[in-house]
Amino acid sequence: MSAVIDVAEVNKTFKLHYERNQSLKERLLHPRSGRTEIFQALRDISFTVGEGETVGIVGHNGSGKSTLLKCICGVLQPTSGSIRLRGNLAALLELGAGFQVELSGRDNVYLYGTMLGFSKKRIDQIFDEIVAFSEIENFIDTQVKFYSSGMYVRLAFAVAVNVNPDILVVDEVLAVGDERFQAKCIDRIRRFQGEGKSILLVTHSADQVRALCDRAVVLDGGRMIANGDVADSLRIFRDALMQETVAHQDVTDLADISVDSVTTPEGSFDVRTGAAMRFDVHLTSATAYSGNFVFEVYSRDGVLVNRSDRQGAPVNLRPGANVVTVDVDNVPLLDGVFDVNVGIVDERGSNVKAWSEKVATLQVTYGGREGGLVELHPVIRHN
Ligand SMILES: Nc1ncnc2c1ncn2[C@@H]1O[C@H](COP(=O)(O)OP(=O)(O)OP(=O)(O)O)[C@@H](O)[C@H]1O
Ligand SMILES: [Mg+2]
Repeated sequence: MSAVIDVAEVNKTFKLHYERNQSLKERLLHPRSGRTEIFQALRDISFTVGEGETVGIVGHNGSGKSTLLKCICGVLQPTSGSIRLRGNLAALLELGAGFQVELSGRDNVYLYGTMLGFSKKRIDQIFDEIVAFSEIENFIDTQVKFYSSGMYVRLAFAVAVNVNPDILVVDEVLAVGDERFQAKCIDRIRRFQGEGKSILLVTHSADQVRALCDRAVVLDGGRMIANGDVADSLRIFRDALMQETVAHQDVTDLADISVDSVTTPEGSFDVRTGAAMRFDVHLTSATAYSGNFVFEVYSRDGVLVNRSDRQGAPVNLRPGANVVTVDVDNVPLLDGVFDVNVGIVDERGSNVKAWSEKVATLQVTYGGREGGLVELHPVIRHN
């Protein structure tokens, strides 16, 4: 398989200028004050995309994904290293990066097509198809600056896929349109894949990577920390996500009961969807105490996945060390990272005696292709 995109040892730095003196008077007196810092957005990035391959790029906000795509598309020049492309490339970059906002949608279609090396005659031929795909016929002669972000993305996507490039580069934009249009874009991407074209796709959605990509690259602080199999890369991405939040753990003991740790018999918090899971919650109590044990599970987006009944489950703590065991028969969660909070409340459930946030972090792995938060096992019939 030959490479259509070859990124070799690419570095990209930005110069950031900080104004030290804020007042106008100071600025006039010391026009050259302030300091300049060099910020390295990409560090030594090397990878290739083969013909017919779809590669996902994932990473936290600010990890360098858009910068990398802009370098690949030629919108930005790498500070060092080289990027080689074989075939023509159409890109859907972040909002604002593609179109001339003062021009109409129609003019932008022609401008963009010309940039990709198409003749006016060729663009005339595909123009109607582009507009039909975008579903914004009524606005095609309106200046792009009056478009909503959804309209902008629709037109940009329609142009990018209909000019029939060899390589399609997509930055995150699939998240902007409504769900129906997203599905239409994903269909189109699949058709593209079927035609043996190459795709580079930046997305925050692990589901999208799993559904569409053959391989995934993970960026972290401008470095490439993984480049390989989708499942392996997503795991490395999740590990990086977890390390970030360990520092933010907030453990509070409100009474003379403390939550010391949460362990599992296997010593690991990795679990597969549908498997059984056991937690042992280690508590120390200064005195004998009869109260209730409560717990919560949150997704990384802050969605409460489960909270025990406010009354919780009764426990009779002994002075000293105690272990409360939580068994879940069949973990219904799909792929993701979930935080567990545990606590002890009084018998009526009205006073919190001990509370510990994020004492355990579950990493759930799902082998199937269903997306979302939980396994539903839907039975679907067509009558
Ligand atoms: N033109 C620029 N000048 C200075 N710094 C920049 C510039 N463009 C990007 N950066 C910085 O480079 C880093 C990487 O930005 P980039 O937009 O590539 O991240 P990203 O991975 O696409 O993030 P997101 O998920 O939020 O889209 C950020 O810290 C950003 O502030
Ligand atoms: Mg970005």
